[in-house]
Amino acid sequence: MPSRRSVLAMLAAAPFATACVPANLPDPAAAWRAPGAGEADPRRFCLAHAILAPNPHNRQPWLVELVGDDEIVFFVDLERLLPATDPFNRQITLGCGAFLEMFDLAARSLGRRAEIAIWPEGEPQPLLDARPIARIRLTGESAARDPLFEHILARRTNREAYEARTVESEAFAAMAAAAGEAVTFGSASGGEVRDALRTLAWTAFEREILTPAAYQESVDLMRIGAAEIARYRDGIPLDGAMIEAARAVGLINREIMSDVNHPMVKQGYEAYRPLALDAPAFAWINTPDNSRLTQIAAGRAYARMNLAATRAGVSIHPWSQALQEYPEMAALMADAERIMNAPGEARVQMFVRAGYAPTIAPAPRRGLEEHIRA
Ligand SMILES: Cc1cc2nc3c(=O)[nH]c(=O)nc-3n(C[C@H](O)[C@H](O)[C@H](O)COP(=O)(O)O)c2cc1C
Repeated sequence: MPSRRSVLAMLAAAPFATACVPANLPDPAAAWRAPGAGEADPRRFCLAHAILAPNPHNRQPWLVELVGDDEIVFFVDLERLLPATDPFNRQITLGCGAFLEMFDLAARSLGRRAEIAIWPEGEPQPLLDARPIARIRLTGESAARDPLFEHILARRTNREAYEARTVESEAFAAMAAAAGEAVTFGSASGGEVRDALRTLAWTAFEREILTPAAYQESVDLMRIGAAEIARYRDGIPLDGAMIEAARAVGLINREIMSDVNHPMVKQGYEAYRPLALDAPAFAWINTPDNSRLTQIAAGRAYARMNLAATRAGVSIHPWSQALQEYPEMAALMADAERIMNAPGEARVQMFVRAGYAPTIAPAPRRGLEEHIRA
């Protein structure tokens, strides 16, 4: 039996990696291998890339209807929202923007222009609803390939410890250029702002864990061990040999994970403290307002920034807690907007740690068929 210490070390070190898949269950990494290969319908090729987009808690809240020969109607899956940590569905909407960006890049890789009409039946407020997010048509017009497409399969959210060296300014410049004009890109590789953001990242992370509804939402989405990960292929995977061993002997389960005072849980989340407090650099994306259209644009910008970081060899890892709109976070959100310069109607939409880290395995995906509505 593993010692409690080694179990804790494992929990701390590699909570999100993927491992071997039980033979009778789908492979959670399958969607990353040659997406869309052999598809006769170019919409399916593009969708097979779109589902690789970054998205909060890996909910993959994307539903599509294929209409006629060249159209898609894109909806949010209302069963896959995050009501506690994302009460106004802002982050879910960003993940939908990221999906659209990956779709567009894939269409361009085929030389096709995707005509994307966003919120064709109006912007849902204050919450998302059953109206479509977008109507997409693959037109007969040609469009230029975008080199960011080449990095879709290598893109990751990397939660490893980062090397101590700061991020090269050329890399940040490339990320800013990729994010584009719709957003304002910011970064801090040292100095007072970086230090204030280190403290903010950790304080907000801890505040979230100590806010019962917010923390429980994460616990409900934890997938403990390879069998659960393969069954759900979403959420927050807890994986590795030690997790399997701990699960087998009852040292880790959902009930234990729900108890923030359990020593195992405490040590598990304490492992995040140095990730925040030693972060070599941070980057963020601001927008002038917070409309649904702007949130989609911010999600598209984030996807592009993540791909440009991948191309530059830079890892990124969002720390969204301080940006979340529930009452217990309000004071820290005000700090976030002050430090990252988002006054008045402006919003910080994404806030990430940035640096150089080892390569990691891809996060699970449910697979294209799960997203297609008849
Ligand atoms: C709007 C948004 C917010 C996110 N916030 C966090 C976060 O606070 N912490 C974190 O570890 N990952 C965060 N992520 C990253 C997702 O968890 C990640 O994209 C998802 O698990 C899929 O993994 P992948 O990006 O490696 O494909 C966020 C992503 C998006 C788009």
